[in-house]
Amino acid sequence: MQNEIDSNRIPKHIAIIMDGNGRWASKRALPRVFGHKAGMETLREVVRACSDMGIEILTVYAFSTENWNRPTEEVSYLMNLLIEYMRKEINELNKNNVKIKILGDLSPLPKVTREEVEKAVRLTGSNTGIQFNIALNYGGRAEIINACKKIAEEFKEGKILKEQITEELISSYLFTSGDIEPDLIIRTSGEKRLSNFLLWQSAYSELVFVDEMWPDFNSRQLEKAIMEFQNRDRRFGLIKKSSE
Ligand code: FPP
Repeated sequence: MQNEIDSNRIPKHIAIIMDGNGRWASKRALPRVFGHKAGMETLREVVRACSDMGIEILTVYAFSTENWNRPTEEVSYLMNLLIEYMRKEINELNKNNVKIKILGDLSPLPKVTREEVEKAVRLTGSNTGIQFNIALNYGGRAEIINACKKIAEEFKEGKILKEQITEELISSYLFTSGDIEPDLIIRTSGEKRLSNFLLWQSAYSELVFVDEMWPDFNSRQLEKAIMEFQNRDRRFGLIKKSSE
């Protein structure tokens, strides 16, 4: 396998399931939330690395619709960590021309968190560098249901005909509307599933699973995952190209 990235075949969109924070902390006999704190530092490094590499979109799974079922203290910690992240990082994100976009419904979030997140979206809105999608209170099935409801509504009003319901139309009703689909989805911590992340958008994504817990992930691990991606033979349902 190659040991350097082919800069001509960098994935345009990378999505990451940042898993293993809790286990990272437990292994060190620390409370789980220490893992989230360390995970925030990893995120900082990864955003920077993706931006430097010229990745067009980075999407991270920060909080799922299922995560509300965690202990109240952990949920509150994560909501406060989001505030801390936005406050601490906003200058650096702006300096690096990063544009934040949120995937998910922010309305159930605590008011302070929501306002801080919305502010960061606003303050980075005219940046033209990497697009940083943060999936927050996000669930892939809920996203598809939401799209179906909107389409049904417009169908009822006669604004959409049955024949106009295509993949492109459905995509345009998702939170990721207008975004290219992820070329590469990385999940840390050795778990090998999508857990309701980007269900529609991942149809042709390459999946790379790495054993490191998210706080142990770094830019070198990211490069390795990209190299693994570059070694895959992406066919999109077509047949293999004959070898030259
Ligand atoms: C999964 O690990 C991680 C999360 C549910 C939260 C991800 C949050 C961060 C990386 C913090 C920083 C993010 C932002 C946007 C400020 P887990 O808790 O499920 O780990 P486990 O599977 O070992 O229990």
